[in-house]
Amino acid sequence: IFAFLQLTLKDMPVTATNQLKITGIPKLNAKRFSINIGLGEENIALQFDVRFEFHNDRNTTVFSYKQNNSTWTNVVKDEHFPFEQGEEFKVIITFDKDEFLVKIPGNYVKSYPNHFGAEKFMLVRVQGDVRIKSFNIE
Ligand SMILES: *[C@@H]1O[C@H](CO)[C@@H](O)[C@H](O)[C@H]1NC(C)=O
Ligand SMILES: *[C@@H]1O[C@H](CO)[C@@H](O)[C@H](O)[C@H]1NC(C)=O
Ligand SMILES: *[C@@H]1O[C@H](CO)[C@@H](O)[C@H](O)[C@H]1NC(C)=O
Repeated sequence: IFAFLQLTLKDMPVTATNQLKITGIPKLNAKRFSINIGLGEENIALQFDVRFEFHNDRNTTVFSYKQNNSTWTNVVKDEHFPFEQGEEFKVIITFDKDEFLVKIPGNYVKSYPNHFGAEKFMLVRVQGDVRIKSFNIE
C-alpha cells in the first residue's frame, strides 16, 4: 500500500466549495492521530483528534481550535467512535463560514464551529499514528 505517515499541505488552499476526503488506516498500536485545518501553524481552525488512548481519553474523538498559538480552545469530546486500529476508515470534511462538518464512518456527522469565519484555509495536516491511503480535495 502506498501510504504517507504524515502529510502537510501548505499554500494549496481548501475552500468552502471543496470537500476533503481522507482514507487511512490507524496503526495496530495507534494511540491517536489528528486532522488539522488552519490558516497557518498558529491558527488552527479545526483539530479533529482521534484518540484510542491518550491521557484519560479512550475511544474518543476531540474537536478543538487554536488562535494565535493559544492552547487548544473550545474542546469538544464525542464518544461516538467508529474507528478501529488496523481498520480502514474514511473521513469527509466540508465547511462554510459558520461550521465544519466532519463525516466519519457510520454516516455520523459532527458539526464544529468555524471560529475564524474563514472560507479558505492554507494548511491541512494529518499526523499521528495513521497511514494515509488517499487524500483528495474535490
Ligand atoms: C476501544 O475500542 C476497541 C475496538 O473496538 C475495543 O477493543 C476497546 O475495548 C475499547 N476500549 C475502551 C476503553 O472502550
Ligand atoms: C490574534 O492576532 C491578530 C493579529 O495580531 C489580532 O488582530 C487578533 O486580535 C488576535 N486574536 C486573539 C484572540 O488574540
Ligand atoms: C507556537 O507555540 C509552539 C509550541 O508552544 C512554539 O514552539 C512556537 O515557537 C510558537 N510559535 C510562535 C510564533 O510563537
